[in-house]
Amino acid sequence: MEIGTMIKALQDPMGIPFYPVLFQVLMVLTFALHIMFVNFVLGTSFLSVYGYIKGDDYWKRLSKSMIRATTANISMAILLGVAPLLFVQVVYDPFWYASNMISGAWVMAFILIMMLGYSMVYVFYLKRDSRGGGFAAFGIGALALFILAGIIMHVLGYQLLQPEKWFGWYISGNSIDTSGTALHTFHIPRFLHFMIPSFALTGVFLMLYAWYFKDRADSDKEYLQWVARMGAKMAFVFTAIQAGVGFWWLFSLPLEFKFFVNPFFLVGAGLGVSLLFFLNNAQKDPFKYAVPAVIGAFLTVFGMSYTREALRMTYLRRFDYSIFDYKLNIDLGSTALFLSTFVMGLIIAGYMLTIAYKSGKTTGEYVPSPSIDKWGKISIALLLAWIVVVVSLGVVTSVRNYL
Ligand code: HEM
Repeated sequence: MEIGTMIKALQDPMGIPFYPVLFQVLMVLTFALHIMFVNFVLGTSFLSVYGYIKGDDYWKRLSKSMIRATTANISMAILLGVAPLLFVQVVYDPFWYASNMISGAWVMAFILIMMLGYSMVYVFYLKRDSRGGGFAAFGIGALALFILAGIIMHVLGYQLLQPEKWFGWYISGNSIDTSGTALHTFHIPRFLHFMIPSFALTGVFLMLYAWYFKDRADSDKEYLQWVARMGAKMAFVFTAIQAGVGFWWLFSLPLEFKFFVNPFFLVGAGLGVSLLFFLNNAQKDPFKYAVPAVIGAFLTVFGMSYTREALRMTYLRRFDYSIFDYKLNIDLGSTALFLSTFVMGLIIAGYMLTIAYKSGKTTGEYVPSPSIDKWGKISIALLLAWIVVVVSLGVVTSVRNYL
């Protein structure tokens, strides 16, 4: 059977419940957020280990803050990884599932790797001040496990793009390999393109950290100056390296793709170069540039994430596959529930972030203003209403299925 026909036969016969462009935009947006937090995880955990080993006063302090930040960043990275996982399964289901099956053992190991990595971060965070100083091993172990998790995700995403090779990976000689223990392909420039930004984005993270604490009564201005300057330098140097890696990746792509004239690539690269110039200016006054630097970094990552999606569309066009041809089976009810859950999530997450932001700025006890208090009450009411709606829908649907 021809590959394109086989792929179409593997699609969900029910079709998808809304226009594919919605799933694509949300998939790219949530992937951009996911990869940003992944980069924060890798960068902050690296700095915490480095600072711990280096051991002078400023580095020790920074190491402590960074490992604390890693615990929050890893939760966000996981949370924001689930969303693109669901979207990719909706519009690229034949590819994603096939790639997962070919390396099934690694897909299952991924969960254990994440659990172990997460636990090791906490051991390092809680025990780092104990006597003996041997706890760096936990930080290093966690970092290694997170990189391994990234390798697995990279391989799954890259195997997905090459259905012409699946058969050869699945059949070895005269026998079928159902073990799922092999990772079949790896593309160094592509992988590095997602790893190097860990240092650039963590540089921006440090700028933001220094900016955030600078107005607190108990802050140490000299220490924060040191952090801000180092952050701005890291952000600039690694964005420059990242641009180089980006071109390496571009030139390693099949020439027939003509990807260098792809409009998504041109916009993504334009954003990257603009960020580089901006970060160069930021060296003068990292505090002033901290907030725009985060916005600029996010826009660049979003542009690059869309470029990655445009590249996937280019790879899969060879098999006559486009998500825009997916069979439509419009279901307004489930789409409305999905979108209202999304908006509700934004309202609730916004409330929690506001509380975290404001309470961290005060040295004493934080008392929320009446409007923030109201926001909190609305968030709880929304959450309760959502639980009632979803549970009722579940019960009604189950009962109707039995009748
Ligand atoms: C710290 C651990 C993690 C690291 C270092 C990591 C890293 C990465 C990288 C580098 C990619 C891009 C691969 C490529 O396109 O070549 C990626 C994609 C992805 N990650 Fe993560 N990841 C981590 C955790 C997670 C978790 C826990 C989830 C799910 C809950 C997840 C879900 C995804 C998904 C679904 C994609 C692909 C999205 C798509 O193809 O559009 N990741 N990750």
